[in-house]
Amino acid sequence: MKLRIVNIVGARPNFMKMAPLMAEYRKHPRQFDPVLVHTGQHYDANMSKLFFEQLHLPEPDVYLGIGSGTHAEQTAKVMIEMEKLLATTPCDLVVVVGDVNSTMAAAIVAAKLCIPVAHVEAGLRSGDRTMPEEINRLITDALSDYCFTTSADANENLRREGVSRKKIFFVGNVMIDTLLRLKDEAMKSPIRPPGQYGFVTLHRPSNVDTKETLREILAALEVVNKDLPLVFPVHPRTAARIKGFGLRSSLKPIEPVGYLDALCLLAGATMVLTDSGGVQEETTALGVPCLTIRKNTERPVTVTEGTNTLVGTSRARIVSEAKNILAGRGKRGRVPKFWDGRAAERIVQCLLEHPPKK
Ligand code: UD1
Ligand code: UDP
Repeated sequence: MKLRIVNIVGARPNFMKMAPLMAEYRKHPRQFDPVLVHTGQHYDANMSKLFFEQLHLPEPDVYLGIGSGTHAEQTAKVMIEMEKLLATTPCDLVVVVGDVNSTMAAAIVAAKLCIPVAHVEAGLRSGDRTMPEEINRLITDALSDYCFTTSADANENLRREGVSRKKIFFVGNVMIDTLLRLKDEAMKSPIRPPGQYGFVTLHRPSNVDTKETLREILAALEVVNKDLPLVFPVHPRTAARIKGFGLRSSLKPIEPVGYLDALCLLAGATMVLTDSGGVQEETTALGVPCLTIRKNTERPVTVTEGTNTLVGTSRARIVSEAKNILAGRGKRGRVPKFWDGRAAERIVQCLLEHPPKK
């Protein structure tokens, strides 16, 4: 009997994590019957459809059309639609990735229907419960039967929370599977500007939902932009806040870019300034210095082993750390264990060796 696996994606960073898994299931057509569900948490073409095309993801089998809303609204809508779906779709396992609302909502529904849950990118902890993602991570991991981890610190976090060793599988980083697979193709993108430049992304609510903090960060970026032109594709949350707060800046933001353009821009950047989770990992994999505009990170391996530096949100610190990099003192770092392009292969192997119990 084939394993019927329902795989959930919803928001931009989910797509790069799911793509290598879908490709890997396809290598075992007699063992797996994968179903791809898109919740529709992200829905703009440049936050969703473009990624399906560029990452060679199959069209979703099911599109739930959830859209935006408050946390409760978004989570509840995913739960209601997922419950209907799983009640009528025989399923041996639900696979969720990352830490967005769609991840947690799908995990709760599956667990209550007694369907085993696998969480890809389990165990990451910022220790900051004001982050919506931290709540999503804690709940998803507590409900998961398979915790697939990217780093040793994640294994330790899960152990500390009492998760059985039998559920923890250190497999590596599926996001880096995608990066390594598409890097050569990405480098052909015409988007890369001539000369040196920096790459910026910003969307954490703690940074962009408060006028003062957002103003401070934009002011820092304006100073850096004088020495190093910044390429800044603006996330829709951030675009809405900049407009809503009536903030003006000399930066020249662009629309969100597709994955291949993002990867090309990241790989060629002199430095990256970000608050993204995935971008911290990608810069470490690429060996590009990264300044993370946050006080904490759920991905400490990018700081201890990689090229990442946590710089907080003060203008003075962001500017001084950027100058440090421009003076040639950027971190070099090494690539963490199992960030080698084979994480999805390890996950699928694990599912073959330890199939979910019916
Ligand atoms: C979500 C995730 C976050 C992840 C980020 C990746 C949660 C709690 N947050 O944050 O962990 O890092 O995605 O990008 O799940 N919007 C559009 N078009 C879209 C999508 C969103 O205009 O296609 C706008 C809407 O105004 C929406 C806002 O962006 O209200 C925020 O979207 P939402 O999915 O709620 O949260 P993100 O900030 O995108
Ligand atoms: N990314 C992209 N286009 C952009 C900005 C980012 O394709 O305009 C990619 C980035 O390279 C990484 C992923 O989106 O692969 C990270 O997603 P995001 O920052 O939205 O979410 P997070 O990782 O913080 O949850």
